[in-house]
Amino acid sequence: MKFDTKVVHAGIEPDPTTGAILPPIYETATYVLDEVGTDKGFDYTRSSNPTRQVLENNLAGIEGGQFGICFSSGMSAVDACLKLLSAGDHVVCSDDVYGGTSRIFDRILARYGLTFTYADTSQPETVRQAIRPETKMLWVETPTNPLLKVTDMESMAAIAKEHGLYLGVDSTFATPVFLRPLEFGADIVVHSTTKYLSGHNQIIGGAVITNRQDIFDEMKFVQKSVGAVPSPFDCWLTLLGAKTLHLRMERCSASAQQVAEFLEGHPKVAFVRYPGLPSHPQHAIAKAQMSGFSGMISFELKGGIPAGRAVMNGVKLCSLAESLGAVETMITHPATMTHAEVPPEDRQARGLTDGLVRISVGIEDVDDIIADLEQALEGV
Ligand SMILES: Cc1ncc(COP(=O)(O)O)c(C=O)c1O
Repeated sequence: MKFDTKVVHAGIEPDPTTGAILPPIYETATYVLDEVGTDKGFDYTRSSNPTRQVLENNLAGIEGGQFGICFSSGMSAVDACLKLLSAGDHVVCSDDVYGGTSRIFDRILARYGLTFTYADTSQPETVRQAIRPETKMLWVETPTNPLLKVTDMESMAAIAKEHGLYLGVDSTFATPVFLRPLEFGADIVVHSTTKYLSGHNQIIGGAVITNRQDIFDEMKFVQKSVGAVPSPFDCWLTLLGAKTLHLRMERCSASAQQVAEFLEGHPKVAFVRYPGLPSHPQHAIAKAQMSGFSGMISFELKGGIPAGRAVMNGVKLCSLAESLGAVETMITHPATMTHAEVPPEDRQARGLTDGLVRISVGIEDVDDIIADLEQALEGV
């Protein structure tokens, strides 16, 4: 199957009982056994559920992986991956990760003996320098949230192989439409399915995709033991959203390119970060390893915080909201919203300035999106 066909069909068969083209929503906690020791492949929904299994197979197929494991949020998917490690192990992590990721690393997992070093993974040399004898995992987000730094997957795979590290990639921003990290040698891909994969702001969810049987077995064990599983209804809603992923991403990225070019040419804008712009520091890498640049843009206004606030309060079509990756265009202030819990000094060190504005470009008419930003910019 070609990629677009996989998006619609991977892992999905008509329901054997009725022929229903979409899988039934198996809203059940448990399953009746035929006799002691004989079930029909399911015994308890925390362990597995037929609707969830269809979604897991579909997401694995889209990502080009053998195994998919779904979780109740992107964060619980990230957390599950870190459970491959033990106290004393060290992780090298991209320095511009989603604020929730560094929060769980530094404020929860560090309490259980894991240690973390944040490195600019867009510079492979800094990654090499951060590796210690006890390093066990390289955790990469590409493009990053919110500065959209792009990391070269080939270099990361080479470093991980050389040092015997797990290579985990949070590919939420890129989506499998534009980047499939397993093809570059990653061991684990994570998605917040809350975002582009479900695509309609309808659920909170996460997924881990891998080709490694040992990682799959451990992830299934964590999923069953911890129980951070999505409901069958949420799985079904995610599956429905995922079927149009390729079409939505095509539109989001085409529109984001136009919005980024509009912002870059605007006299009130200080700088724009979008991997599809030649001015992006890793534009060449993005162009080489991604088949599109996705729908996320960050920009800073010349007037700093008050100017950014005026734009975010002045938009009418764009929604001032915390999330990303949906059909609606959303605008966010990372310093007070998504990354509010990153200590201010760490934010400054990363270049995550207080005036930074992030846009998730949706699938509305791009002329309307640009007109809305234009009128909001007039108020600055
Ligand atoms: C890159 C990235 N990874 C993970 C997450 C966490 O996902 P969730 O909100 O589904 O827990 C987010 C949320 O914004 C994100 O942007």
